[in-house]
Amino acid sequence: MPKRYGEMSKDMSDAVLVTGGAGYIGSHATLCLLEAGYSVVVLDNLCNSSARSLERVAQICGRQPHFVQGDTRDTALVEQTLKDHNVSVVLHFAGLKAVGESVEKPLMYYENNVAGSVSLCKAMQAAGVFNLVFSSSATVYGEPETMPIDEDCPAGVPTNPYGLSKKMVEQVLTDLAASDDRWSIALLRYFNPVGAHESGLMGEDPQGIPNNLVPYVSQVAVGKLAALQVFGDDYPTVDGTGVRDYIHVVDLAKGHLKAIDALKSRKGAHIWNLGTGVGYSVLQVVKAFEKASGRDIPFNIAPRRSGDIAECWANPEKAKAELGWVAEHGIERMMEDTWRWQRDNPEGYGV
Ligand code: NAD
Ligand code: UFG
Repeated sequence: MPKRYGEMSKDMSDAVLVTGGAGYIGSHATLCLLEAGYSVVVLDNLCNSSARSLERVAQICGRQPHFVQGDTRDTALVEQTLKDHNVSVVLHFAGLKAVGESVEKPLMYYENNVAGSVSLCKAMQAAGVFNLVFSSSATVYGEPETMPIDEDCPAGVPTNPYGLSKKMVEQVLTDLAASDDRWSIALLRYFNPVGAHESGLMGEDPQGIPNNLVPYVSQVAVGKLAALQVFGDDYPTVDGTGVRDYIHVVDLAKGHLKAIDALKSRKGAHIWNLGTGVGYSVLQVVKAFEKASGRDIPFNIAPRRSGDIAECWANPEKAKAELGWVAEHGIERMMEDTWRWQRDNPEGYGV
């Protein structure tokens, strides 16, 4: 008899499977789930993370997730894991996320992100688990003409295989939900996740030179990198630099728990933006980080980065109305927590 999530027991004796749960956002979501009383099973192949993140989770909350080192493309392993742990809902973070790398290695991205998601869904179907929360991205909107971006804004054309892989998986999941009304699926479109847990024990640990603004700035602040390259100062924005909706990773993680609750009374596939509704320019972020860290951030103006858009921020009203979720932390707190993590762990989880 397939398990309907709406029938899940109130004491949360069923478990949540978190794919990619050792990674940046997944580890913060794992912590939130454990703190809320869920049993958690993490499945991660550790291709872009360290299991030390899960040791830190246990250090903070005194509870351990089960850990399975494995790959979403291993359908049999995922099916067995779902059955062994009596899983009733899956948070699917596992995937590759480097935009530039996706241009160089598109097959790797489509195989991991798209085929990995298809494999996961096949395993869920076989195990009778039909509740799924997927990590999508604001990148699926492409270059929208008006701001803020709401969920009715038509999906645009992402300019790289990473973004296209997110759009494809959204389509796969939408088709799946339309084909079989046992499915309840949340497509969460994240804006720009930054920040770290307030303990300073968990945060983002990019391999090599960071691609994204805030990890790059924090490595400049700690002296690992010499100066930030600001990619363009001639955009039609407040100061000419790119504007984004930065969201604290703990707020984002909490949004997933709200999505789990919302799926209990919803069938089909549902899209929610997870953003703050406020945009900051690159130079405003640099200033906020300097204030939080007390360090100077030297920077140079460089040419625009190919594929970047001028500005992007969310209309978060749908998530507020339907999930009862709002982002609580502002830019100051995002930068303070990023700095604490970077200062206390200059080598990330490597030390
Ligand atoms: P991350 O790289 O820190 O975490 C992803 C995790 O998935 C890693 O631990 C990695 O080892 C694991 N993984 C990758 N492929 C796997 C596979 N086939 N099987 C099992 N494990 C696998 O990235 P993150 O920043 O935590 O992002 C999580 C999700 O959110 C990703 O799907 C990403 O595309 C999406 N997202 C991230 C951002 C962002 O800016 N960080 C923005 C929008 C969406
Ligand atoms: N930037 C710099 N210098 C850097 C890095 C970034 O000036 O060294 C600028 C960018 O040009 C942009 C802003 O900082 O204006 C933010 O850039 P990020 O790389 O941090 O973030 P993006 O908005 O480009 O992309 C992020 C994620 C994607 C996701 C997208 C969703 O990396 O995975 O948000 O909007 F799809």
